[in-house]
Amino acid sequence: MKNIMVTGGAGFIGANFIRYVLKKTGFKGRIINYDKLTYAGNLANLAGISRDFGGKRYFFVKGDVCDAQKVPAILKKFDVDVIAHFAAESHVDRSILGPEEFIDTNINGTFALLKTAMNYWRVGGLEGSRFRKDVRFHHVSTDEVYGSLGRTGYFHETTPYDPRSPYSASKASSDHLVRAYHHTYGLPVTISNCSNNYGPYQFPEKLIPLMILNALEGKNLPVYGDGKNVRDWLYVEDHCSAVWTILKKGTPGRTYNVGGECEKTNIEIVRTLCGIMEELCPAKGNPAMKGRKYRDLITFVKDRPGHDRRYAIDCSRLKKELGWKQKYDFEKGVIRTINWYMENKSWIKGIKDGSYTGWIDRNYGKR
Ligand code: NAD
Ligand code: TYD
Repeated sequence: MKNIMVTGGAGFIGANFIRYVLKKTGFKGRIINYDKLTYAGNLANLAGISRDFGGKRYFFVKGDVCDAQKVPAILKKFDVDVIAHFAAESHVDRSILGPEEFIDTNINGTFALLKTAMNYWRVGGLEGSRFRKDVRFHHVSTDEVYGSLGRTGYFHETTPYDPRSPYSASKASSDHLVRAYHHTYGLPVTISNCSNNYGPYQFPEKLIPLMILNALEGKNLPVYGDGKNVRDWLYVEDHCSAVWTILKKGTPGRTYNVGGECEKTNIEIVRTLCGIMEELCPAKGNPAMKGRKYRDLITFVKDRPGHDRRYAIDCSRLKKELGWKQKYDFEKGVIRTINWYMENKSWIKGIKDGSYTGWIDRNYGKR
């Protein structure tokens, strides 16, 4: 790997991935962060990276993955040999309110990237395609493609796809296209399907950062439905190390599930956050709390339409075949995350004062 194009590198996981690769892996090549800078893309997520590596080993290019002129030009300019494709519209609630961008970016964008990568890396004609030996297209996907589980069981790599939201349907579609490009043309691809991430730089529309920021501001903590939906939580750096492990050691054409092996109901998550916050930044000393405890802010609100009940990942393939394992348990990860949000007030201010334009009020679930 010499020149890695990270799509969506200004988003939550992409930015953590760039930081991880440049600082923690010994990688000596270049990273090209290709990002459209939607509401979720924020160059402040890469604070320090441009300063330390910019122009030498880190390059930012503003662009859309759907752009059929720009993507090939960038692949050529930087002689990209690896694409780590993180760019996506990523929030289920937004996909319910407006699915169009999910279709454009997640499906058409992935298709456009596959076509371009194939053209750039192919040696010889389309029939019986051959590719440069050193190249790889890694597609970052989600466990939500597998649908929803009952009380028992796990998602395995062989579980049939059964996506149920516009977001997961668009990701499932992109996964199928990536696999088809491998099966039909032999493009060297890998896919990872990961469970829910949390950690620094996550846009506060997702459960964990939303709850932390609302609690700090003394606002309601909206829990959808009965709060008993289950997610499997993974600290973002562990997702980054998983993607890196797959890039280094994964078999082309293979899919790897990534998970925290940390199933929790949403209400358990919110109560745990409240408990840890009482220790790290007691409500008593927080003027916004006006004498209440963080737990008093928990408010059950109308459920998300089509809300998947339970996700749980079997990630034993990645562990056994490639030797990956998680480094952070939930408590350690959550303490780091809460501390990060408490210490990074200017990042939060950047979001709230309109540096981002996409902060929407959902029309269900009172805030
Ligand atoms: P995010 O919403 O924080 O970031 C997405 C990034 O993609 C942003 O920087 C945005 O500007 C960029 N982007 C969007 N449309 C683009 C386009 N058309 N062209 C170029 N860039 C574009 O998302 P995230 O949480 O960091 O998720 C990254 C990837 O991981 C996604 O593919 C998502 O499906 C997957 N994933 C996320 C989670 C999770 O818990 N967040 C779990 C499993 C998988
Ligand atoms: P979210 O972070 O949106 O991720 P995903 O929908 O991809 O799993 O939500 C995680 C869980 O938390 C999900 O079951 C929905 C629930 N949730 C709430 O109860 N309240 C909220 O305000 C949000 C954003 C999510």
